[in-house]
Amino acid sequence: MECPRGLAGVVVDQTKISSTAGAHLTYAGYPIEELAHASFEEVVFLLWHTRLPSENEIAVFRHQLVSQMVLPAETVRLLLYVAKEPQHPMSILRTTTSLLGTTNDVDHDEPPKILAKMLITVAAIIRIRANEPLLEVDPHLGVVENFLYLMTGKRPSKELARMFSTVMILHADHEFNASTFTARVVASTFADYYSCLTAAVCALKGPLHGGANERVFEMLLEIKEQGLDPREFVEDQVKQKRKIMGFGHRIYKNGDPRAAILKQIAGKLAAKTGNSEYFEIQRQLADYMLQRFNLHPNVDYYTSLIYHCLGLDKEVFTMLFAACRTVGWLAHVMEQRNENCLIRPNSEYVGPTDRHYLGEQIQK
Ligand code: CMC
Repeated sequence: MECPRGLAGVVVDQTKISSTAGAHLTYAGYPIEELAHASFEEVVFLLWHTRLPSENEIAVFRHQLVSQMVLPAETVRLLLYVAKEPQHPMSILRTTTSLLGTTNDVDHDEPPKILAKMLITVAAIIRIRANEPLLEVDPHLGVVENFLYLMTGKRPSKELARMFSTVMILHADHEFNASTFTARVVASTFADYYSCLTAAVCALKGPLHGGANERVFEMLLEIKEQGLDPREFVEDQVKQKRKIMGFGHRIYKNGDPRAAILKQIAGKLAAKTGNSEYFEIQRQLADYMLQRFNLHPNVDYYTSLIYHCLGLDKEVFTMLFAACRTVGWLAHVMEQRNENCLIRPNSEYVGPTDRHYLGEQIQK
C-alpha cells in the first residue's frame, strides 16, 4: 500500500473555495493578485458564496459583521480570567474559541456572527495583555479598520487600512492546509462551528504552520540584537539540524505568491516605521536561502515584520493569522457540511502481530 508521508500530493476531496493548482493561488477562480485590491468583506463573501457580492449585498454584509464585533459580558468575564500572562496568546485563543461556543448559541450561530466574534476576541486578547481597556466598534468603519482600531486603539489611515486589508485577504484561505483540513475533519462529524474552529486554532498553533510567523521575528531579533551575519546564522542553524522559519512550503517550491505581495507591504511599512534594518536582514537571509538551499520565503516571513511595524508583540502574531484564516475555516466547514461524507481514512498497521495475552502473569 502506497502511503505518502504527511499526505503530500494526495487529493482528499473536491472544493470550490480556493485552489493552488499550478502554484497559483485563486479564490473561487479569482487570482489573489487581483483580489489583493478588493475589500476584505468582498473576499469573505466570495469565499463563503463562491461569487462576488452586489453593492447592496456588501453593505448589508459589512453591517452584519461590524455590528457583531462585540463580546458577550460572560465571555469578557471569563476572558479576563484566562488571558493572563504567562499563557501564550494562542493558548488563550484556543480556550476562548471554545468558550465562545458555550456563551453563544452553539446550534444557531451563523458564520458572519462567528467571524465577528473571533476578530473581536483576538483584539480583546491583545488589549488585555497590554493592560489596555477594551474598545467598542465604530459603526462608521469597515471590518479591517475596526479590527485595527480594536487592537491598537488607533484609527488607521486609509493607506494602512488598505495594506492591512491585503494582508487579511492573503491569509483568508489556502485550500486544504493543516488547520483547514482539521476543521473539515471535525465538521465531517457534524460537530458545531465552534468545535471546528477550536480544533483549527490548535492545528494552526504549531511552528510548522501558523506558529512560524512568531519564530521568524525571534530570528530577526536575534540576528539584529546580536549583530550576527545572516549567512552565518543560517549555517549555524542548519548545523544544529534546525529549520529556518518562514522558508519552504509543501506546495510552492518556486516561491509563495503571497510572499511576493507581502514583501512590498513589509518594505513600505518598515521604511515608514523605522524598521528598515529588519527588512534588510530579511533581504540578506532570503538571498542566501535561495542561493544555498533553493528555498523561498513563505507567507509567514514578511507578515512577521508587518505585524511588528504595527507595534504588536511577536507572541500575538499567530493569533492574527488565526483571525484572518477564520474566514477560510468557516468557508470549508460550510462546504464540508453541505456535501458531507465522514472523513475517516485508514492506516497501515506495521506493529507486531500474532501476540497473545496469557492472563495476569508477567508478559515475557
Ligand atoms: N529550513 C531549512 N531546511 C528546510 C526548510 C527550512 N525552512 N524547509 C524545508 N527544508 C528542507 C528540509 O530539511 C528537507 O531537506 P531534506 O530533503 O534534505 O531532508 C527539504 O527541504 C524538504 O522539506 P520538508 O520539510 O520535507 O518539506 P515539506 O513540504 O514537508 O515542508 C514546511 C514544508 C513548511 C513544513 C517546511 O518548509 C518548514 O518546516 N518550514 C519552516 C516552517 C515554516 O515556515 N512554516 C510555515 C509554512 S507556510 C504557512 C503555513 O502554512 O502556515
